[in-house]
Amino acid sequence: MIKRMFIPGPVNLCENTRNSLSKQMIGHRSEDFSKLYREVTGNLRKIMFTDNRIFLSTSSGSGLMEAATRNLVQNKSLHLVNGAFSEKWFKIAKANGKKAEKLEYDWGLGIKAGDVEEQLSKEKFDAVFLTHNETSTGAMNKLEKIAKIVQDFPETMFCVDAVSSLGGVKIETDKLGIDVLLASSQKCLAIPPGLAMASVSDRAIKRASETKNRGHYFDFTEFAKYDKKAQTPSTPAIPQIYALNHKLNEILDEGLEQRFERHWEMAKLVQGWAEEEWALFAEPGYESLTVTAVENNKGLDVSELISKLEKEGFLIGNGYGKLAGRTFRIAHMGDTSLNDVNELLETINEIVEAMN
Ligand SMILES: Cc1ncc(COP(=O)(O)O)c(C=O)c1O
Repeated sequence: MIKRMFIPGPVNLCENTRNSLSKQMIGHRSEDFSKLYREVTGNLRKIMFTDNRIFLSTSSGSGLMEAATRNLVQNKSLHLVNGAFSEKWFKIAKANGKKAEKLEYDWGLGIKAGDVEEQLSKEKFDAVFLTHNETSTGAMNKLEKIAKIVQDFPETMFCVDAVSSLGGVKIETDKLGIDVLLASSQKCLAIPPGLAMASVSDRAIKRASETKNRGHYFDFTEFAKYDKKAQTPSTPAIPQIYALNHKLNEILDEGLEQRFERHWEMAKLVQGWAEEEWALFAEPGYESLTVTAVENNKGLDVSELISKLEKEGFLIGNGYGKLAGRTFRIAHMGDTSLNDVNELLETINEIVEAMN
């Protein structure tokens, strides 16, 4: 049985996206590829609200997290940590030998712009790393407020992980002065995993050119060199790029504002239900627009709930890491509709009633 996916990636693919993956190959140094590359990066610029260069990386999003660290940090970075993925970025920095510091909050809380300002006023950081949407806790950070603070520190680059928000939530990259905005393919963009994309500012590329030991596979200056020819430095995941091209056109046909509105409506529906039946894990005011972590205040066996839902054809996520059993997660992203969400919530209600 094909499962209806409500885990926070990978998400279900529509039939046209699935078909686009099986097209015949083209050479990655051919004019056909460059045409495809120009169309995809042009459309990503629209979705990211930027004029910056766009790099397509044959890796998952974590590859570009490592890239941002290696290319931009010469001395010290500040990581805003409030969940598993922001912690991961911090660990990536450490594993690459960087002097990284954390501004840390309990899981579920949102990052406070005032604290960021205080930290940046005390010491000089090469870059600030923010996870826009903490998929592990269902907390979405207030990007605009934090961006406003970082913009007051012109030496400091601003890197944002939009892995689980790009394509579902409006992110105005240039207006917010974001130097690196990175995302993965398998979440709100609704294509298979295995491709990541980033917008990278000119000053970030300049910084990269002056940074030692930035490696080779993820060297931004190499990406920029090949971008001039509308190519990638290495052989890319062409099927994923076909799928992305197809999907971006579909997203633009849906209309960006309509798409953001649909994601907002799904979030309100799930969160209204969760507040009535359970409780929300995220700090009030920071509820994510793409994934909800529901607090298991009924003390129910979450694994049992998940396996019963699977038998009905629905896949939801357990709580992430240390939150397993304490929360469960419902993603409302990609091509999911309000009807899909309603059906899922009704099914959960029925199962829970029978479990009690
Ligand atoms: C917010 C966030 N950042 C980073 C990642 C890592 O992305 P990937 O699995 O594409 O490497 C994830 C994955 O779920 C995520 O949700």
